[in-house]
Amino acid sequence: MLLEIKDLCVEFETDGIVTRAVDGVSLSLDRGQVLGLVGESGCGKSATAMSVPRLLPMPPARIMGGSIVFDGKDMLGMPVDALRRLRGARIGVIFQDPLSSLSPLHRVGRQLVEVMRLHTDVSRGAARENAVEWLGRVGIPEPAARVDAYPHELSGGMQQRVMIAMALILEPDLIIADEPTTALDVTIQAQILDVLRGLLRASAGLLLITHDMGVVSQMATHVAVMYAGQLVEQAAAGEFFSRPRHPYSVALLDAMPSAATRGQRLKAIPGQVPAAGAFPSGCRFHDRCPVARPECANAAPELAEVDGRLARCPYA
Ligand SMILES: Nc1ncnc2c1ncn2[C@@H]1O[C@H](COP(=O)(O)OP(=O)(O)O)[C@@H](O)[C@H]1O
Ligand code: SF4
Ligand SMILES: [Mg+2]
Repeated sequence: MLLEIKDLCVEFETDGIVTRAVDGVSLSLDRGQVLGLVGESGCGKSATAMSVPRLLPMPPARIMGGSIVFDGKDMLGMPVDALRRLRGARIGVIFQDPLSSLSPLHRVGRQLVEVMRLHTDVSRGAARENAVEWLGRVGIPEPAARVDAYPHELSGGMQQRVMIAMALILEPDLIIADEPTTALDVTIQAQILDVLRGLLRASAGLLLITHDMGVVSQMATHVAVMYAGQLVEQAAAGEFFSRPRHPYSVALLDAMPSAATRGQRLKAIPGQVPAAGAFPSGCRFHDRCPVARPECANAAPELAEVDGRLARCPYA
């Protein structure tokens, strides 16, 4: 197994108040697989994924329990210098905000060259050529000229693509992409997804966080749904899309525009995700669940096998 997360618990402490944002999440991902991690904003997707390369800000974050094993290596116990060698080279991270990984002070080409030179013994000239090639692959027009641009000279969408090139240029084994294409228009989005598919054929694994169910249905081999810090359903993509079992999954898919409803507004799920620290007792989804029963407010359901997948609802 390329990546195995077991019983991960992550807490945040702000002004002395501790909240558990990730509560016992277990996930696994193999080479060639795409695990789509979905759920509304605030459900704990980023906190889960960013725990893998230990890129959560600590403090306020703390990993309180569980284990993360990447390619046989214990990520939570790994010394920081070993972790740095893995990041970039074997684990590529695509963030929602491009400026979180681009330096404003250096030309983008130089930043790409530095990443390659840090992890490999490629020559400066070959690294520069590779940088230009990758800028082209992620859809930057005139890459031979743009390689010498500073980030602020590029549009937000182009900065995003440079950051994606930086995460992928060393062809990592594990790609963690947190809403990678949300800010991009559909043509560029399709091009980025194609680049990702190409790398997957080269036997990487992709942990893909998105709230775009259309992207998940195109890309994912497996789907994991998070609600209020917990997994509520985990299934092979085909099973998930043809027969979602958890009421929250059903609601998420209902909100997805289909060919018949294209152009109409997305159907929103009534109510809101509760804040970490204010999860209701019983089933955390009960105050929004269209098929809730009175007992759902009392008993907290466990993840259990139903119909060839895991679901956290005794009535699924
Ligand atoms: N830096 C932070 N400080 C305090 N709380 C945080 C921080 N980052 C995330 N959280 C809390 O953790 C929960 C999950 O956040 P996150 O993992 O970012 O959700 P998602 O990626 O699913 O939108 C949220 O309730 C959020 O308030
Ligand atoms: S346990 Fe009850 S409230 Fe929770 S998802 Fe199932 S039916 Fe809905
Ligand atoms: Mg997030």
